[in-house]
Amino acid sequence: MSAPASLSAAGKTVEFPVKSGSIGPDVMDISKLYAQTGMFTYDPGFTSTASCESKITYIDGDEGVLLYRGYPIEQLAEHGDFLETCYLLLYGELPTAAQKADFDYRVTRHTMVHEQMMRFFQGFRRDAHPMAVMVASVGALSAFYHDSTDISDPQQRMVASMRMVAKMPTLAAMAYKYSIGQPFIYPQNDLDYTSNFLKMCFAVPCEDYKVNPVLSRALDRIFILHADHEQNASTSTVRLAGSSGANPFACIAAGVACLWGPAHGGANEAALKMLEEIGSVERIPQFIARAKDKNDPFRLMGFGHRVYKNYDPRAKIMQKTTHEVLNELGIKDDPLLDVAIELERIALHDEYFIEKKLYPNIDFYSGITLKAMGFPTSMFTVLFAVARTVGWIAQWKEMIEDPSQRIGRPRQLYTGAPTREYVSINQR
Ligand code: SDX
Repeated sequence: MSAPASLSAAGKTVEFPVKSGSIGPDVMDISKLYAQTGMFTYDPGFTSTASCESKITYIDGDEGVLLYRGYPIEQLAEHGDFLETCYLLLYGELPTAAQKADFDYRVTRHTMVHEQMMRFFQGFRRDAHPMAVMVASVGALSAFYHDSTDISDPQQRMVASMRMVAKMPTLAAMAYKYSIGQPFIYPQNDLDYTSNFLKMCFAVPCEDYKVNPVLSRALDRIFILHADHEQNASTSTVRLAGSSGANPFACIAAGVACLWGPAHGGANEAALKMLEEIGSVERIPQFIARAKDKNDPFRLMGFGHRVYKNYDPRAKIMQKTTHEVLNELGIKDDPLLDVAIELERIALHDEYFIEKKLYPNIDFYSGITLKAMGFPTSMFTVLFAVARTVGWIAQWKEMIEDPSQRIGRPRQLYTGAPTREYVSINQR
């Protein structure tokens, strides 16, 4: 145990225990601060606040390191598949061959959704954003699966976890099919997780569909890259929702809603739209100037990160995957890729971006890849949600199983009106 931290405030000097993790910064336990000083800490955006203890994912933003249960993302993306990563995040260890086979079998046999969910979809306009459909349909799962909403039962928690991992691709594919007016395609149990998803998205009943193994492997790797990322905004949303005892489906729906924002998971959609707006290499300088202009709200979407002050390790793997997919599809000169590569080159040599440590993040290249695969821009964040569901569920389970867990209830700095007397309307 490290030496305690001492703080002089409100005319007192109080000590706080300092806790060390296995790697990464120590934390100062300030849970008794208010009781001892009558003061709160103030940290909007939680830039210096650890909200929990976790054993799942570790990020070193200065070094550009990302570990899932201690394993570097580069190795998991290179050697494993997405369901292996799901097992690792949920159970804490890489599966044996037998455990992997059993896990794949269990996930595969939870991929169908209740048939009445189809009627639920009929209520949406065809041009509804797929993320709106996902927020609603994921939350609606709690109206269908009452036998896995008792969060105090470990068995029900694991059943709900498997159902979420298994059904997200089905719901995502249904959201896509509904938006283009095509019939839903049922899951096919003899396909692997990601091949099954591609088939549910792109097959039609009137002809056979053959999954391209290169594209399936690339998308599976993209899912691995997006699976978890410690206490990001949507994961913190899931944890906060879960701290009230809400059922897991409702908590994941809250995570989907938060992920939708363009500052978070919505950045992949926004980044591709930005590249399309830039349109050509010649127009890059004017957009770089706008990104640096304090009076212009424009930001380079897909650039910058709260934690990474170095290159996002996922972005490097994403860039490699982009080239693989474009080569496989015979797309030689994608103008958007040319703009992205030149934009990255210019930004990484520009004093503003260097000084603010702004590097491409995972969302910078993902849009180009997903567009090449045939996904519309509006589906990009849906795919992010499909992958991140296992991270949300793993973090939710860890929070529920943490004996020190209490309902999350932050305080505030109040700057509103002090107490004042009511004035009747004829005297105002
Ligand atoms: C994800 O948290 C996670 O782990 C998220 C995620 C995950 O896997 O869950 O990694 C996924 O959300 C990735 C990030 C995707 N978002 C974007 O690409 C949107 C563009 N990026 C920015 O909006 C921003 O960089 C954030 C939101 C990602 C981070 O914001 P911060 O940490 O609050 O940083 P900031 O807004 O305080 O910016 C610091 C400075 C500011 O300038 P000053 O006020 O100090 O002068 O950098 C500038 C900002 O103006 N800046 C940018 C910029 N990002 C930050 N300037 C131009 N373009 C940008 N993209």
